[in-house]
Amino acid sequence: MARIIGAIATSHTPTIGFAKDRRLDNDPIWKPIFDAYAPIRAWLAEKRADVLLTIYNDHITSFFFDHYSPFALGVDDQYLPADEGGGARNVPPLPGAPELARSIATSLFAEEFDISFFRGKSVDHGCFSPLSMLANPDGTWPWKILPLQVGVLQFPLPTARRCYRLGGALSRAIRAYPVDLNVVIVATGGLSHQVHGERCGFNNPEWDQQFLDLIETDPEVLANMTHADYAERGGMEGAEVIMWLIMRGALTDRIRTLHRTYYLPSMTAIATAIYENEEEYAAVPVFRNLQLEGVERLTGTYPYTLERSAKAYRINRFLHDLVIPERREAFRQNADKLMSEYDLTSEEADLVRRLDWRALIHYGVIFFVLEKLAAVVGVSNLHVYAAMRGQSLEELQATRNAKIEYGVGAKRGG
Ligand code: FE2
Repeated sequence: MARIIGAIATSHTPTIGFAKDRRLDNDPIWKPIFDAYAPIRAWLAEKRADVLLTIYNDHITSFFFDHYSPFALGVDDQYLPADEGGGARNVPPLPGAPELARSIATSLFAEEFDISFFRGKSVDHGCFSPLSMLANPDGTWPWKILPLQVGVLQFPLPTARRCYRLGGALSRAIRAYPVDLNVVIVATGGLSHQVHGERCGFNNPEWDQQFLDLIETDPEVLANMTHADYAERGGMEGAEVIMWLIMRGALTDRIRTLHRTYYLPSMTAIATAIYENEEEYAAVPVFRNLQLEGVERLTGTYPYTLERSAKAYRINRFLHDLVIPERREAFRQNADKLMSEYDLTSEEADLVRRLDWRALIHYGVIFFVLEKLAAVVGVSNLHVYAAMRGQSLEELQATRNAKIEYGVGAKRGG
């Protein structure tokens, strides 16, 4: 079974990545930052960490306000560094842990934590900045990561209490995963800072020290605080430290601090810490996904799961993008060229070329992009339904109360 071997807490200011990329380890201004991460790197190696479940927030880089989620779990195979305006950092992609992510997701939903998922998104300094300090000397990564993005920049935010409770659910979900893995919880963010408005530049080292004490000894106090309490004590953007409560909730009630540093060179207080459990966890029951139990008896039924989504992501993306008029036109002009631009495999391209609606469903395509393709090629939804059932249109229509045809396009053929 997977084990939680401890936790790391770290600020995630862009300055950390800046110092690393410019190799400023011997500059007296920057050296304390490097010194803070050396013991963490050694601890991760000694503990043989396999996966770092990394809690961070995106800074309106890859997550915009067109769809903003409180908790988004990465289910991708890898994560590229994001371009935040000045070009992406020259660091290798972080390898993901998609099987573990899917298992955790199912367990969390069973506990009624209905998180969202992301893939195909680059990851900004909130994640890469501290992790790059923990890379191998040659820049490669000694472990995989499981990123959990927390939306802390558009109110309403999850409460500190909700974050704390999510940590408990995450702990149970990880420990129910039936694979031998050493998992470390990594909390990022803070400490005190404010980067907007006339109060910009606000810091509160006294509160930062209290926070570091409380996260170890009395997280209940922190879980009871409001966002305004956090903003008053640690600055508005400093309220992102509610993410540390997810990490704290994933540990046992009693923990010990192995390492703790604090440094305030400019705008944001940079803190690091290592925590280990002082108690045993309560045993977790064997997890059963009751929600889909028995669904396999429904012949001709294919629940659209994260596994199917991962397998068929490219082709679903390709078919989804037929909602863009220029892509539709490109598809009509030269479907093979467009499909190769989307990196479809020869099997996938063949399924599209043959409009094999049933085989497309078997492959992992979701029906709701098939109806887009149907609209583009000028057949009705009824044609697709009939083909999936292995019937002619007339045979299907004979089973309905009314003999009608329809599609999702405003006009036939888009
Ligand atoms: Fe942040």
